[in-house]
Amino acid sequence: MNIVLGITGGIAAYKSPDLVRRLRERGAEVQIVMTASAEEFVTGTALQAVSGRPIRSNLWDKEAEAAMSHIELARWADIVLIAPSTAEVMARIVSGGAPDLLTTICLATEAPIALAPAMNHIMWSNPATQANREVLEERGIHIIGPGIGSQACGETGPGRMLDPDAIAATVFNLTGGKGQGLLEGRKLVVTAGPTREAIDPVRYITNRSSGKMGYAIASAAAAQGADVILVSGPVNLPEPPGLRVVNVESAEQMYAATHEAIIDADIFVSAAAVADYRPENAALQKIKKNEESMSLVLVRCPDILASVAALDSAPFTVGFAAETENVAEYARGKLEKKNLDMIVANRVGPDCGFDRDDNSATVLWSDGEQNFPVSSKARLARDLIELATQRFLAARGTDTQPRLSIISTKD
Ligand code: CTP
Repeated sequence: MNIVLGITGGIAAYKSPDLVRRLRERGAEVQIVMTASAEEFVTGTALQAVSGRPIRSNLWDKEAEAAMSHIELARWADIVLIAPSTAEVMARIVSGGAPDLLTTICLATEAPIALAPAMNHIMWSNPATQANREVLEERGIHIIGPGIGSQACGETGPGRMLDPDAIAATVFNLTGGKGQGLLEGRKLVVTAGPTREAIDPVRYITNRSSGKMGYAIASAAAAQGADVILVSGPVNLPEPPGLRVVNVESAEQMYAATHEAIIDADIFVSAAAVADYRPENAALQKIKKNEESMSLVLVRCPDILASVAALDSAPFTVGFAAETENVAEYARGKLEKKNLDMIVANRVGPDCGFDRDDNSATVLWSDGEQNFPVSSKARLARDLIELATQRFLAARGTDTQPRLSIISTKD
């Protein structure tokens, strides 16, 4: 697949070399076209090294135009992806202006165009930007993201450029392009996030899981070409592009949604922090504070992971173990007791594990283990998916029919 990757002047341009690598990993040819302001944030030297092609930036570069004119570039592209896309370039495309090489290509191409916006959240929410977004979408231009979260300016809100892996996966989905992902043709189910167990209509029992690890795993699997169903408890995360999300609240709902999704799955990854117990009877009306003390009777929730591993046609099943002590020992116990193919063990506590952007892990299987040092959850997720895929293929043989599910983990 031939991709013209437009890079415009936003701080998220520092992620561009990574995005180029993710696109090339899937077999794409990437021709970078930078705007003048993008050069303030990322060097052409780095981008040329990762793309393996000379960078284009100037509409009036006679030598480059002689080699491949802007019209030829516009025809060469199977898709034009602009990431990061500033508010300014969105406005310019809406207006039909073509003062530079990138916007000229946008006017001259018949290929699909996708933009991954990245800007301060107030700029993104500004009515002018939102009106431009609507016009672009009406014209069939794909808007990928943005994500919600902390921003380079120190503020929080919608406007972050999505993770390069997620953008790459979406681009391949948009074009129907088959890359060289490890999980092409495989189906994977991931559970993520906490569950909520109702006490009464306004109160519930939950835990500190943010869902970040499970979401990162689902994105990493989609980026490798898998057909992913993400069964998610209540989290405060944007829906990752390029996969199907089924939202649930309670452990029982997650159990039902997982068993519906698991049919034909090749790998199941159980990253959710599912409640072990729930109130026996949720009160139908709000409980009043009439008594000095009160007791709640808790009953066991179904163990989703163990139930999937026990299926006759169980997928390759990956569990998570969040422990505060004796991490590897307790995790190996769970691997055996629940009859899992693999378990990802990590330490949780006040300063590690939950609601953070980084994590470390030890992965255990029946006759081996591998340590992963602290890294971003996105990076760790990529490594875990690679390892799970290797173990899955080793366990089932490379000639298995595509059928992959992944287990959820506590994060
Ligand atoms: N899990 C599940 N359903 C449950 C409970 C847990 O699917 N009702 C899954 C989690 O997604 C995770 C793994 O099981 O993959 C965690 O195992 P578990 O034994 O539940 O861990 P803990 O709850 O930490 O167990 P314990 O409190 O006994 O340490």
